[in-house]
Amino acid sequence: MARHLITSAIPYINGIKHLGNLVGSQLPADLFARYQRGRGHEVLFLCATDEHGTPAELAATKAGQPVAEYCAEMWQVQKDLSDGFALSFDHFGRSSSAQNTRLTQHLATRLHAAGLIEEVTEKQVYSIADRRFLPDRYIEGTCPNCGYERARGDQCENCTKQLDPTDLIEARSAISGSTDLEVRETKHLYLRQSKMRDRLDAWIDSKTGWPILTTSIAKKWLHDEGGLRDRGITRDLDWGIPAQFEGAPWSGMEGKVFYVWFDAPIEYIACGAEWAEARGLDAAAWERWWREDKGAADITYTQFMGKDNVPFHTLSFPATLMGSGEPWKLVDYIKSFNYLNYDGGQFSTSQGRGVFMDDALQILPADYWRWWLLSHAPEGGDSEFTWENFQMNVNKDLADVLGNFVSRVTKFCRAKFGETVPEAGMQGPDEAALTEALENRIRAYEGHMEAMEIRKAAAALRAIWVEGNEYLQSAAPWASVKEDPATAAMQIRLALNLIRLYAVLSAPFIPDAAQRMLVALDCRDAGWPDDVASALRTLPPGHAFTVPDVLFAKINDTAREDWQARFSGIRD
Ligand code: MF3
Ligand code: ZN
Repeated sequence: MARHLITSAIPYINGIKHLGNLVGSQLPADLFARYQRGRGHEVLFLCATDEHGTPAELAATKAGQPVAEYCAEMWQVQKDLSDGFALSFDHFGRSSSAQNTRLTQHLATRLHAAGLIEEVTEKQVYSIADRRFLPDRYIEGTCPNCGYERARGDQCENCTKQLDPTDLIEARSAISGSTDLEVRETKHLYLRQSKMRDRLDAWIDSKTGWPILTTSIAKKWLHDEGGLRDRGITRDLDWGIPAQFEGAPWSGMEGKVFYVWFDAPIEYIACGAEWAEARGLDAAAWERWWREDKGAADITYTQFMGKDNVPFHTLSFPATLMGSGEPWKLVDYIKSFNYLNYDGGQFSTSQGRGVFMDDALQILPADYWRWWLLSHAPEGGDSEFTWENFQMNVNKDLADVLGNFVSRVTKFCRAKFGETVPEAGMQGPDEAALTEALENRIRAYEGHMEAMEIRKAAAALRAIWVEGNEYLQSAAPWASVKEDPATAAMQIRLALNLIRLYAVLSAPFIPDAAQRMLVALDCRDAGWPDDVASALRTLPPGHAFTVPDVLFAKINDTAREDWQARFSGIRD
């Protein structure tokens, strides 16, 4: 049994995430976690809300709420939605937790002791109208790199370049829109990443199997434009983890907090501590996942994220952990994603464009979305959601191929043999051929899942469903039942067992439907089909089942047009 530590990029607290966010980290991470559990491995799957920084403050101001209260409410909203999408986190934490505060301050102290933190007096943009400094997203302007006009002070959304507020052209305050800005001096802590360049470079080079999308972004940051720059890890803000604390090795940081991108990835670890504490476990319980000296040396750690998150996960976060001089578990594999577009444009949170997690669940159950999103994951390049394509794929794959198989088999059996698995005779060459075909297809499916080739895994799963349909079509037990009921019984017993096999294999993609299939079969054995022939004998003759309700309803044109119109605009 292997041990898999799995984290998804932690979503910003401000507002409900759209389907593009979901498919770019949390959903594929869940697929992988469910698959590894299904294979019998030990999994710790962690996610949390990313609560600090300017996005949270700005959203709370807009909502007219104190920021702590806003975050507490939005955490619950996001938690309920992640439950709605059946995201199987072992813990859904909060980056504002006491555990994260302690660990962030601890790591900063260690980095200081290692000579990797410098106190720098720097020039920051100050808004005279707002009477405050304008870090990160409090300032907007034109990107000096690509010319995008709505670049933020910390990063350009368009070209992913990390920026400093003073880099922006024609800068303005995001609070008041004021351009009455001046540059003032203020003291901050800097992480001396440049001193760690060679170590990081060698570490990236050792990751031979990483996707190009991941390593090319890391390499670009390591080598382009003079290489890795030291970065400020504190901000002039009230909301966040205090940069001045008892035992801090520096002074003069009162009224300042750590930069959100410094403490957010540390929450991956702190979330482990939250998980243990929530279960009444001691520190050893989470340290065996996170500390190489305490049992984590043989863990496989996989991170899931959108491509804009890659620089932080390949460089700044590893710099924090390596630089601490403590044996923290570093990531083994980073699975990163391109963007999902929406109907000819971009999904956009700031503009309210696209389908958001709450909208989606109001329309259809999670499995419909999970299937479409995962089978169209933006892996090789960006991909696009259109309502026509969604309708077509749901109807074909889920309703016609899988759903129809389940309903035909169970209903036919009920009509001819009753609601128990029939006594069955000898299988013939067709069954042997099917078993062999399935054996090959299942091994291919496993290979894609292990490699996190999500689209390929979805295609392989669909091919497994199709295999059963084709068998049933050519066996045609409804035709043979009159003259040769024994053969029809054998065929239908096999088909009932196929339903169980499908439930087990499909559970990572469509966990709710898979569960309903197992419940209908009254089967508690969700064991992985390591050997297909024996897996297809799981349900013995005489075993009682029930015909399940329709697994997947088809989407008709009226409904599709209706949703298309409803989500064509911009929501507030
Ligand atoms: N909140 C960030 C985003 O949505 C992701 C943070 S991931 C972590 O882009 F590493 F910082 F935790
Ligand atoms: Zn840009």
